[in-house]
Amino acid sequence: MISTSAPGKIILFGEHAVVYNRPALAAPLSGLRATASIEEATTTGAGLTIRAVDLDTTIRLQESAEHGLALMARLVLDRLGAAEPTITVTVESAIPIAGGLGSGAAVSAALGKALSAHLGAPLDAPALSELVYEVERFYHGTPSGIDNTVISYEKPVYFVRGRPPEVFSLGMPVQLLVADTGIPSPTHEAVGGVRARWQHERDRYEALFDRIAGIVDTARTVLEAGAVGQLGPLMTANQHELEAMGVSSPAIGRLVTAARSAGSLGAKLSGGGVGGNVIALVTAESADQVRAGLLAAGAVAVYQTTIGEG
Ligand code: PMV
Repeated sequence: MISTSAPGKIILFGEHAVVYNRPALAAPLSGLRATASIEEATTTGAGLTIRAVDLDTTIRLQESAEHGLALMARLVLDRLGAAEPTITVTVESAIPIAGGLGSGAAVSAALGKALSAHLGAPLDAPALSELVYEVERFYHGTPSGIDNTVISYEKPVYFVRGRPPEVFSLGMPVQLLVADTGIPSPTHEAVGGVRARWQHERDRYEALFDRIAGIVDTARTVLEAGAVGQLGPLMTANQHELEAMGVSSPAIGRLVTAARSAGSLGAKLSGGGVGGNVIALVTAESADQVRAGLLAAGAVAVYQTTIGEG
């Protein structure tokens, strides 16, 4: 049986501004993954069936026009010039849905990897990323392309829309806690809100995006140099710009403040914001205390992740 997986992701710096052609930094969440496994179906000619366990949905490719997972399967078959096989693909994900952690892109990527492996032609990262981007467009109109990229490459990336992604290495591992506000926040709504405000106040928003671009470029240098001590203030500065952009919320603010009071060196929302997740920079010594502070401030789940390992 073929079984493949793809990680979730966090945006370290630069969300939203990345939609407006500024750079952003993102990293895979290796411990939170979506998986796809394939079984040969017993009925001849039944075609491809996708069991989306978390959505409690079964999709038959021959019948389904309007589903992102069906679109992903069709894109893979078209890319490989392959006929529809008679198989069942089961897709599952440990990544919370609509939490800014790339769950949609991860399930599409896992499905694309499994199906292409089954057909004997596993897609490489650039090809997989391209197809997942098409599905992201189907879900939310104007994605920057950062989610599909980091999830397909499974490496930290410096990303500018329309340019090949730059994979980069960290000078030392960085430990983060990812805290879920428990408030689902569809990305397209947060992105649509920014667009509406940008249309009214173009100069102010362009200046905000420029300041974020400056933070992103500094953060890349700091990460590559392994100067983790300088990272916290940059995260806090990025959070302030996101607040000014109107994509923070009281729940996000509570978690950011709680993390900092409990000893985190910097914290910010990650992804679309409004709800979703907050990331907090920690050390081995501060992690337990910060986790406790986040839970006490209302986080419904806290995951620990280390980026830049190995
Ligand atoms: O909420 P997420 O994880 O899908 O992240 C969205 C990131 C944005 O910059 C807000 C949108 C985008 O397309 O880059």
